Amino acid sequence: MLPFQRGCWQRTFMAEEKSILLIVAGGIAAYKSLELVRLLRRQGIAVRAVMTGSAHEFVTPLSLGVLTEDEVYGDMFNLKEEREIGHIQLSREADLIVVCPATANILAKMASGIADDLATTILLATDKPVLAVPAMNVRMWGHAATQRNLKQLRSDGIHVMQPDEGGMACGEFGPGRLPEPLDIAKQICDLLSHPFDTALSSGRAPTTIAAAPLEAQPDFAPPEHRPLYGKHVLITAGPTREAIDPVRYIANRSSGRQGFAIAQAAADAGAEVTLIAGPVHLATPAGVIRIDVESALEMQAAVEAALPADAAIMVAAVADWRAATNAEQKIKKKGDTPAPLQLVENPDILAGLAKHKTRPELLIGFAAETEKIVEHATAKLAKKGCDWIVANDVSGDVMGGTHNAVTLVTAEGHDAWDDAPKDAVARKLIEKIVEKIGDTDER
Ligand SMILES: Cc1cc2nc3c(=O)[nH]c(=O)nc-3n(C[C@H](O)[C@H](O)[C@H](O)COP(=O)(O)O)c2cc1C
Repeated sequence: MLPFQRGCWQRTFMAEEKSILLIVAGGIAAYKSLELVRLLRRQGIAVRAVMTGSAHEFVTPLSLGVLTEDEVYGDMFNLKEEREIGHIQLSREADLIVVCPATANILAKMASGIADDLATTILLATDKPVLAVPAMNVRMWGHAATQRNLKQLRSDGIHVMQPDEGGMACGEFGPGRLPEPLDIAKQICDLLSHPFDTALSSGRAPTTIAAAPLEAQPDFAPPEHRPLYGKHVLITAGPTREAIDPVRYIANRSSGRQGFAIAQAAADAGAEVTLIAGPVHLATPAGVIRIDVESALEMQAAVEAALPADAAIMVAAVADWRAATNAEQKIKKKGDTPAPLQLVENPDILAGLAKHKTRPELLIGFAAETEKIVEHATAKLAKKGCDWIVANDVSGDVMGGTHNAVTLVTAEGHDAWDDAPKDAVARKLIEKIVEKIGDTDER
């Protein structure tokens, strides 16, 4: 196994730059470490990578080297490395060591103090904080040996992230999935006391919009022939997740499908689209700048950062409340004592945007109602100060479903649309937006 070298390519970290040493072990989720590096570099964090032997089966040192802009290390007995930058120096230079993905194997070695390759020798030689991000098959995760090792590691002071639960590459379901790279990046920033800038986690910063309005769009039609060409459309989608403690949160059933469909339709119409998405499992629509957020407060900050916009369509099901405090440790049951959960109201992002000094020319809110749809939507229109409300009856399986029956409520009246697939609803809404702010000249 050869270390990845590109000439005399070895980065010197700036004194003020926070840096991590990323150890990539040999799990199926290793490819996600590439996305993690990208996110961390965007936050201004330097990353130096070490790969285990097995990791080479899953990602190439070339990819990691290009993204870290540095040499990638792997061989302990490479003379050049030992003379110039050996295992002790690698561990000394970093502010934090991150093992991601952490295989069951490397966790076991760490728990037993085994040092039989460069990665595990660094881990044994370091006095720096260590974060392990496990990812493995659900049975490997649940195995008594793995759980014993995790307990040992936690008591040794290693930070261990809880894996996500869900479908796995092996076809099984349960805990063991690597958490989303964005969540890992946030956890790393937390441990480094480095502020996490949500706007920087997207593909491009919103400030670049005016300079290159069509850079990210699909190339299927001449841009200047599309009716929203040159317009910036801001869309929120999905639920928000309000943390109660490290393992629990308040959420809702929104799937994000309607908002994502609107983002796609707006991009197809030639708009520059910024999509601010709560936690959903949906692919980013082609040609759309996506910013992932978790809580209502993060969504509000991302919306602010994305302004100015010509139109804003607030589709997200933002939680009305969040827990008054986000407990640092898991809250324990206390017999008959009532659950200690106090809620406080979240900011009203739509109403805030209506009063904003750079209010979008066209401001559209979504209203999920279970009864008296038009009555409630009309009241919301006046209360929030927006231009249109798209009201939908969510008493059925709309949330998470593929179809939607909506009523468009404006100052002029209301128009009930037939039940239709969410992408058809999206296209119809974009047609209405084009009539209002678009360029409909014959070309
Ligand atoms: C296709 C494939 C996928 C694997 N995925 C994982 C995984 O996600 N997590 C894990 O702990 N081990 C996984 N393994 C097993 C590890 O690759 C194996 O335990 C290896 O010895 C780990 O070496 P390392 O910890 O030094 O990187 C996988 C093996 C194969 C063949």
